[in-house]
Amino acid sequence: MSKRRTISGRTVVITGAASGIGRALAQRLSAHSCPVVIADVDEVGLKETETSLPGPVLTRVLDVRDAADQRAFADEVADWAPQPLGAVFNNAGVAVASNVLDAVPEDDQWLWDINFHGVVNGTRAFLPILAKQDEGVIVNTSSVFGLVGMPSQSAYCSAKFAVRGFTDALRQELRGTGVSAVNVHPGGINTNIVRNARFRKDPEGRGRNQTQMADEFAAITLTQPAKAAEIIHRGVEAGKARILVGPDAYVFDALARIAPTHYYDVIGFAQTRLRGRARARAAR
Ligand SMILES: NC(=O)c1ccc[n+]([C@@H]2O[C@H](COP(=O)([O-])OP(=O)(O)OC[C@H]3O[C@@H](n4cnc5c(N)ncnc54)[C@H](O)[C@@H]3O)[C@@H](O)[C@H]2O)c1
Repeated sequence: MSKRRTISGRTVVITGAASGIGRALAQRLSAHSCPVVIADVDEVGLKETETSLPGPVLTRVLDVRDAADQRAFADEVADWAPQPLGAVFNNAGVAVASNVLDAVPEDDQWLWDINFHGVVNGTRAFLPILAKQDEGVIVNTSSVFGLVGMPSQSAYCSAKFAVRGFTDALRQELRGTGVSAVNVHPGGINTNIVRNARFRKDPEGRGRNQTQMADEFAAITLTQPAKAAEIIHRGVEAGKARILVGPDAYVFDALARIAPTHYYDVIGFAQTRLRGRARARAAR
């Protein structure tokens, strides 16, 4: 049975908080009396998040790839935190869309450094604080693409599978302590992830530019960031070890179990249908 946890009212740390899910988490948790620490590479977006928060906030420009700076950041958080640390959300992430044949190694490395090593750096920097408290949760953002492999997503899927493996291993190490580790697997959430992606060319050969791909993504996402933040917050407090975010996440999870080698027969078909509908809507 999962053990309930309380993070409302505790200090929380959120990376990637200048946009999307991270910003929505900051807003929700601040409204639930959490002193909030927000970090991101995007200073302008971070300021916008800061001004939208009703409660105490520590704002820090941080590149999650920098392990030494993550440790310095953790020290600053320990000095600032008005309440014990309830949760650390290693949420910052980026996207690349490319077939393996066309992959640009620097783009894939950029993604792995942020989406996987950024999570490892954040976990290592903050775990000693949680261990000392014998309380708190490391919440690492994987994806539904950490449950299934998708075409043109080899770098992203491999990083998100790695986050899942790392976090699951950590959770076993933490058994019997007051600290835990949680995987978050969002489905499609309507954020800036595609707009912020590294883009070279349409991997499906349909000649779309990045704006068109972002618009298409927005049209097929089923969940808004505020809803994602609510699901994640509730999931952490319910003591879940992994949190599926959005109805599509439950479909991906079920398909990965039922048809571990054939899930894409269904997913590919559904994607084509959804995109066709989105195009028809846009043409009206
Ligand atoms: N949107 C989705 O459909 C979806 C689905 C599954 C998983 N996710 C994951 O959710 C997380 C949040 O993404 P989002 O959808 O809110 O996207 P987003 O682009 O709206 O927000 C991501 C934030 O991460 C920040 N960031 C990027 N590189 C960074 C770095 N090196 N250091 C610090 N911050 C950095 C960006 O500046 C941005 O503010 C990511 O890990 C993403 O992979 C998103």
